[in-house]
Amino acid sequence: MATTDPWLVGSTLEDKKMDEIIIKGGMPLKGEVVISGAKNATLPAIAAAVLSEGLTQLHNVPEVRDVRVMIRLLERMGARCNFSDENLRIDTSGMNQTEAPYDLVRKMRASVLLLGPLVARFGKAGISLPGGCAIGNRPIDIHLKALKQMGAHIDLVHGNVEVSATRLKGGDIYLDFPTVTGTENIMMAATKAESKTRIFNAAREPEIANLADMLNKMGADIIGAGTETITINPAGKLHGCDHSIIPDRIEMGTYAIAAIMTGGTIKIKNCCPEHLKAVIVKLKEAGADIDENEDTLVVNAPEIINPVDVQTAVYPGYPTDLQAQFMAMMCISSGESVINETIFENRFMHVAELRRLGADIKVADRTAVVRGVPRLSGAQVMATDLRASASLVLAGLAAEGKTQILKVYHLDRGYDHLVEKIQQLGGVVRRIEGRRL
Ligand code: UD1
Repeated sequence: MATTDPWLVGSTLEDKKMDEIIIKGGMPLKGEVVISGAKNATLPAIAAAVLSEGLTQLHNVPEVRDVRVMIRLLERMGARCNFSDENLRIDTSGMNQTEAPYDLVRKMRASVLLLGPLVARFGKAGISLPGGCAIGNRPIDIHLKALKQMGAHIDLVHGNVEVSATRLKGGDIYLDFPTVTGTENIMMAATKAESKTRIFNAAREPEIANLADMLNKMGADIIGAGTETITINPAGKLHGCDHSIIPDRIEMGTYAIAAIMTGGTIKIKNCCPEHLKAVIVKLKEAGADIDENEDTLVVNAPEIINPVDVQTAVYPGYPTDLQAQFMAMMCISSGESVINETIFENRFMHVAELRRLGADIKVADRTAVVRGVPRLSGAQVMATDLRASASLVLAGLAAEGKTQILKVYHLDRGYDHLVEKIQQLGGVVRRIEGRRL
């Protein structure tokens, strides 16, 4: 049965843009929160299902909009999907389309993950070129260069990338930058290459290792995922599999910061602290008392938040996806901190909104200097991208008075039941449905 998802029918998706979140700040968040599966591990896993002609079952799948968009993309190409209670069944045996439709691709840049699997299985793939997005240019030149090196022919026609290949060959591929989705795309394509592929300067994010685990369960032969050199040996036909998505490390980090900013204590369950080492070190420097176990993190807020400098980096460095949230925390630290964004060229969209809440931040190029203020004060702010929006929620929770966040559909892209989870922790927050036009 195909999913019938009201979010994705007709104008409803657009209408969601009118929803807003209202927060009454000042309540310490206390209690337990359960972390959902990682959005960034689920999207490549759904794309990987294309490589098999059988049934794939994914578990611990988060209920977020990007996942819904990816499911809908597959359905539009002829797959049958059923998503309920964190379990997603994908039957790709009836897939008959290799073009990803623009109306969905434009909603989610990660649709580019379909290029590798489609060309590997069908010998061709078409996808609209992802445009610029709120956090920068984000080209896909590295993905395309690698596919070309593997023998694919690439055309850019009417805003679409058309990739075709009668056969894919292996070889040594060096990535100019360890792009995350680029590494995943090439790894998936290489499972069907005729000879051994080695990816050098590969991204090392845990989501890549999780994808390689899945591909190996499907019959692939991949060694070294999670390190900077990945070897993909030729394998025969891939089959369906049962696979669990790893916990979302960005969601885990967001709740850890929420505990610190609100003066609370949160036990974060079903998470993997090992995947958040660089962040945990920084949170401890900020003064938090943190207790880590294999799948639990307990975060106690300090009396005073120390100023801490942060520079984003590829894994295992400090993740860019937690930069905005960390900046929100530094807004109420006891001194001056410097935040340097090295991954994306335009990822300070939240600064203007944080300033509306009373933050003192100066930006020069990719560096932000944050001078902590004793308290933030609630205001009306606008969500601009997924992680920027999370920083506004955090700031709103810590601020005095009422914060109203507009355009919350950005949050829906990647945070599973955010409002409900914060409410369970004692936060005073609610979502208001926007007027339907
Ligand atoms: C992934 C994550 C995203 C995270 C990002 C960086 C998913 C679905 N998304 O995005 O949440 O913020 O990693 O950790 O997993 N670049 C190029 N050419 C390319 C590809 C990338 O120049 O062909 C540049 C980008 O513009 C950017 C940098 O490399 O400046 C990192 O991008 P990349 O690692 O590709 O991010 P995504 O895979 O898109």
